[in-house]
Amino acid sequence: MQLSKLSLALLAATATAADSSSASATSSSSASIPSGCSIGASATATAQSDLDKISGCKTIVGNLTISGVLGSAALASVEKIDGSLRLFNATDLSTFAADAITEITGALELQSLTVLTSASFGSLEKVGTISLITLPAISTFATNLKSANNIIISDTSLESIDGFSALKSVDSFNINNNKYLTSVKSDLATVSNALQLGFNGRDTALSFDNLLWANNITLSSVANVSFAKLQAVNQSLGFINNSFTDLSVDTLQTVGQSFTITSNDDLVEVSFANLTSIGGGFVIANNTNLQTIDTFSKVSTIGGALNAVGNFSTLDLSSLKSVRGGADVESFAANFSCDALKKLQSKGAIQGDKFVCKNGAVSSSSSSIKSTSSASGSKSSSSATSSVGRGVSASGSDSSSSSTASIKSSSSKSKGAAAAFVVPQLSVFGLLTAVLSAML
Ligand SMILES: *[C@@H]1O[C@H](CO)[C@@H](O)[C@H](O)[C@H]1NC(C)=O
Ligand SMILES: *[C@@H]1O[C@H](CO)[C@@H](O)[C@H](O)[C@H]1NC(C)=O
Ligand SMILES: *[C@@H]1O[C@H](CO)[C@@H](O)[C@H](O)[C@H]1NC(C)=O
Ligand SMILES: *[C@@H]1O[C@H](CO)[C@@H](O)[C@H](O)[C@H]1NC(C)=O
Ligand SMILES: *[C@@H]1O[C@H](CO)[C@@H](O)[C@H](O)[C@H]1NC(C)=O
Ligand SMILES: *[C@@H]1O[C@H](CO)[C@@H](O)[C@H](O)[C@H]1NC(C)=O
Ligand SMILES: *[C@@H]1O[C@H](CO)[C@@H](O)[C@H](O)[C@H]1NC(C)=O
Ligand SMILES: *[C@@H]1O[C@H](CO)[C@@H](O)[C@H](O)[C@H]1NC(C)=O
Ligand SMILES: *[C@@H]1O[C@H](CO)[C@@H](O)[C@H](O)[C@H]1NC(C)=O
Ligand SMILES: *[C@@H]1O[C@H](CO)[C@@H](O)[C@H](O)[C@H]1NC(C)=O
Repeated sequence: MQLSKLSLALLAATATAADSSSASATSSSSASIPSGCSIGASATATAQSDLDKISGCKTIVGNLTISGVLGSAALASVEKIDGSLRLFNATDLSTFAADAITEITGALELQSLTVLTSASFGSLEKVGTISLITLPAISTFATNLKSANNIIISDTSLESIDGFSALKSVDSFNINNNKYLTSVKSDLATVSNALQLGFNGRDTALSFDNLLWANNITLSSVANVSFAKLQAVNQSLGFINNSFTDLSVDTLQTVGQSFTITSNDDLVEVSFANLTSIGGGFVIANNTNLQTIDTFSKVSTIGGALNAVGNFSTLDLSSLKSVRGGADVESFAANFSCDALKKLQSKGAIQGDKFVCKNGAVSSSSSSIKSTSSASGSKSSSSATSSVGRGVSASGSDSSSSSTASIKSSSSKSKGAAAAFVVPQLSVFGLLTAVLSAML
């Protein structure tokens, strides 16, 4: 979801920025760099000679874009940019260095640099947003960044992202569509908005072993996950269409809103040994090879609906006291028993109207819609109610499939946006700090 918001914001900002930069580029390239150190809301350098006019400044005030036909570029002694630095569509640029810069108050953005192999920001410690988008030639990325609000890495050829060891907290960390990526490691302790990884190579191993809490986490196409200290996800947690076989986050105690584990075809073992509460809905569905779900035995409350669909023969929810929504549990295993859930429902613990529980053995499936007044009579027998049950479960799965679909489509949008549009005005995302050095 956040992915799509970000890419839309990017698109909108991009459109206006592209207009203004092409206008200034057609008028006269060097004229757009004033000779002082205050360059205004947007100035574009298209040659090293443009940069030479300002490279003696200790502080540049304004938003600088470097674009056009340059083979290499440098900003030798600039220490601070009170504004943003954008390298955009410089299609011949193979190296860039700005090794004296310690702070960029706005965004540092590298986008659509088709031959860039190395960018060096050896002193950078603080940046608002750092964004690397459509960098098909870059292969490694390291940083000593101590402070950054937002990190976006999309559509690059990076194979590993592990240079954030000095960074302890960010607002958002979004890594998508990097098809060669195999490793993401970070020492972050907190993510106050969203941690999102998706649509990278299917082999990405992720380790965030110092992460204590994050507001939202959404992971797709990840091969291995390690969250050694994660205690809380304040809002939503989703694992959708990953390739891992094991998913263990035993330190996690609470998920504030929805918790989703869907379409992880290789998943055989799930372990969330310390999880006690889920503030929103709980969806565990379409994990083809997941036969035993016995790790949620400490979960006592589910703040939304329960939706479990799959080949599991065991679903242990033995501490569950309250499900604020309905329940839709459909197992294709013949020996899955609905008894425990039916018991919960008859005690009134499942508060929503919908109650479906089915297994692979037709004769023992059971489903019903609880009518508000006749809660006591809701023990329904299989054949009479199965058509009702099917209707109910169909509507339930519709809504969950649409959330998966929107995540997928938002990522393809973001890739499309990155490729087709240029010159995003990333300072829209706020103030940040960072050190980036990227080398081949
Ligand atoms: C840089 O651009 C942002 C908007 O993208 C603007 O708010 C800011 O004022 C600009 N900086 C200067 C010095 O004009
Ligand atoms: C996953 O990562 C852990 C350590 O982080 C490692 O021990 C394990 O071998 C990895 N598994 C796979 C399948 O890569
Ligand atoms: C998230 O939860 C953790 C642990 O409960 C808490 O320390 C942190 O302040 C919360 N963060 C937000 C943004 O609410
Ligand atoms: C976080 O998750 C909640 C749902 O639990 C969602 O409403 C919200 O938009 C998400 N925020 C971000 C930044 O992804
Ligand atoms: C999972 O991702 C793969 C690509 O990595 C895609 O081909 C497949 O359709 C996705 N499956 C689902 C259920 O989204
Ligand atoms: C579960 O939480 C308790 C404390 O809340 C902790 O002592 C224990 O190590 C945790 N278990 C795991 C497997 O992390
Ligand atoms: C159940 O297993 C079969 C065969 O392994 C698979 O085709 C099917 O997709 C699985 N169903 C679910 C909902 O995971
Ligand atoms: C259900 O049957 C499968 C074999 O089809 C077996 O492996 C599994 O242990 C059984 N589960 C239960 C809970 O009886
Ligand atoms: C599970 O897969 C079925 C069939 O592909 C789909 O209709 C349903 O929406 C999926 N459920 C979830 C929660 O992804
Ligand atoms: C990118 O630069 C090339 C020339 O190097 C130019 O033809 C193209 O229009 C530029 N694209 C954008 C979106 O500015």
